[in-house]
Amino acid sequence: MKLVNNEYQIQGLSVLSIAEEFNTPLYVYDADKIIEQSSTLKNAFSGINVKIKFACKALTNISILKLIKNQGLDIDCVSIQEAKMAKMAGFEVNQIQYTPSGVEFAEIIEAVEMGLKINVDSIPLLEKFGAKYENSVPVCLRINPYVQDGGNIKISTAHKDSKFGISCELGNEIIEVVNKYNIRINGLHQHTGSDLKSAKSIFDAAQVLFDLALNHFPELEFIDFGGGFKVAYKEGDFTTDINEFGKEASELFSNFCLKYGKNLELWFEPGKYLVSESGTFLTTVNVVKSSPHRNFVSVNSGLNHLIRPMMYDAYHEILNVSNTETNETEIYDIVGYICETDTFGKDRKLPIVKENDIIALKNAGAYGFTMASNYNARFKPAEVLIINGQAKLIRERETMEDILKNQILIEF
Ligand code: LLP
Repeated sequence: MKLVNNEYQIQGLSVLSIAEEFNTPLYVYDADKIIEQSSTLKNAFSGINVKIKFACKALTNISILKLIKNQGLDIDCVSIQEAKMAKMAGFEVNQIQYTPSGVEFAEIIEAVEMGLKINVDSIPLLEKFGAKYENSVPVCLRINPYVQDGGNIKISTAHKDSKFGISCELGNEIIEVVNKYNIRINGLHQHTGSDLKSAKSIFDAAQVLFDLALNHFPELEFIDFGGGFKVAYKEGDFTTDINEFGKEASELFSNFCLKYGKNLELWFEPGKYLVSESGTFLTTVNVVKSSPHRNFVSVNSGLNHLIRPMMYDAYHEILNVSNTETNETEIYDIVGYICETDTFGKDRKLPIVKENDIIALKNAGAYGFTMASNYNARFKPAEVLIINGQAKLIRERETMEDILKNQILIEF
């Protein structure tokens, strides 16, 4: 979203007119930004065979998945349902990495039957996998390397108290099960966390995978470093310098491949990096009210539609799209309409806000809509993709029928 002659625009389209056409609350995604992020990431590595797998939990609309597929990217899915959506969007099954967390074995069987690439995150599941498939189906192991990083403890996934992966201390136990069933291990995986403070923590985790690979797994095809690249949520915020990271990762991985004696593929699974900045969440002001202590702007949305501020104390830049005159401003708390505290932003300086103004929350492409709920029996927002200079509806706003769809009013 850009300010052009005092008007916020996406690909030359006025944001106010998008809000008018499709109504609010509305998620709007800029396809150009997704294309740009995809190509920056693809081009950041050299001399190694890299595959980028979009962690689609960040944004799972099938039109977005199709756009990502058209950029030549693969996909990472954490549930059978995500994998089915990926297939609908055009991904081949061999492009789908299935990285679930603590699922029942029946779901793994379904994933194998679909032909997905399987990642296993516990020894009990590996044991079941071996007993059923022996060496007939290759499998990747998700390792917890004991590296602490991530924007916040809830999104740090590789420290020693994290539920994710197989502890790196259990090397002997892994080998025992692998040998017992002659399981074919084709990859080693780790995901350090989201919003990494330094992407170089991935290199510490990589060392754990490299040691395991060199000592125990001579027949790997790939190593998966996970996702977590940081984007800027506020101006001046530090971000992962993807070109610098790509250079170092390429060197590190080339050296490892030399030692390993084979050129493996290097996989990444970014979510936020690919889609976060493409997304803007548009809301409308219901009420502006002041107390002796604060000024509140209540919008027609809340934590039911964008939970990141309340869940992770995440900062999203907030703009008054309807008023770009910055010479008269006020300090506001921008809050939602949910019947519990749901603050989108505290103490934000905005050009004077009036009822019916359009308020935009930036950087809402990742974990925005996908974490939305029907709390307070509210409808989930519509979604629009701006592509080739045109605004296309990619999800209809819900209706009362959607809210009631699975409810049963029983006789008594
Ligand atoms: N790979 C695996 C195995 C993951 O669990 C995740 C994210 C990713 C890749 C992608 O991470 P990213 O590149 O998007 O940071 N809802 C939280 C983020 C949760 C991330 C969960 N796993 C948020 O809104 O900050």
